[in-house]
Amino acid sequence: MALSQDELKQQVAEAAIEYVKSGIIGVGTGSTANYFIEALAKVKHKIQGAVASSEATAQRLKSHGIEVFDLNAIDGMDIYVDGADEITEHMHMLKGGGGALTREKIVAANAKKFICICDETKYVPVLGKFPLPVEVLPMARGYVARQLMKLGGQPMLRDFTTDNGNIILDVHGLTISDPIQMEAEINQIVGVVTNGLFAARPANTLLLATHDGVKTITSGIHG
Ligand code: A5P
Repeated sequence: MALSQDELKQQVAEAAIEYVKSGIIGVGTGSTANYFIEALAKVKHKIQGAVASSEATAQRLKSHGIEVFDLNAIDGMDIYVDGADEITEHMHMLKGGGGALTREKIVAANAKKFICICDETKYVPVLGKFPLPVEVLPMARGYVARQLMKLGGQPMLRDFTTDNGNIILDVHGLTISDPIQMEAEINQIVGVVTNGLFAARPANTLLLATHDGVKTITSGIHG
């Protein structure tokens, strides 16, 4: 019988445990990351603790008895494990469906390796079908929305406040043919905190749950 999307997420989250050796682990946000936390709890004796990419992840880690470290109290980490809303063969990701993109990007920046865990529905040829989340300072909402429209997108205000007290604009209709360039261009707009393109710093390893098992991809399955 075919596995459900949730079963695929659980399978890939468990596969990521192979990369957990010791020290402090960076942990992402979302339903796939939540399965990873459950799996991590079973091997918590191997690690010192974790750094969380959101308040929700911090609470969940603590509820499993995993110590949560302040990012400023540590000197980097070996791995950061997180899901994505979309990922390409170039390991460029679109993230932020759960609204945690800024802290995710900060924690990921402190890790030697980004391990992305996804089910196969997230593996796409081009980013942008999933609306691109942009975290924005509340007072800049109108200005940023107008600039995003000039880039060809249709920004929609999400009914949500981030852990940092900001808003999210979900940008529909963008054609993201050059994610590195677009990540930089959107970050240049005054009032933008972060956008959900993770391309300047792509994933190092993608663990992709498929109906034929978990595939490990480092340079793309399309050659
Ligand atoms: C959270 O802000 C996002 O970046 C998540 O990593 C992304 O939305 C993936 O979520 P799921 O694992 O729930 O699909």
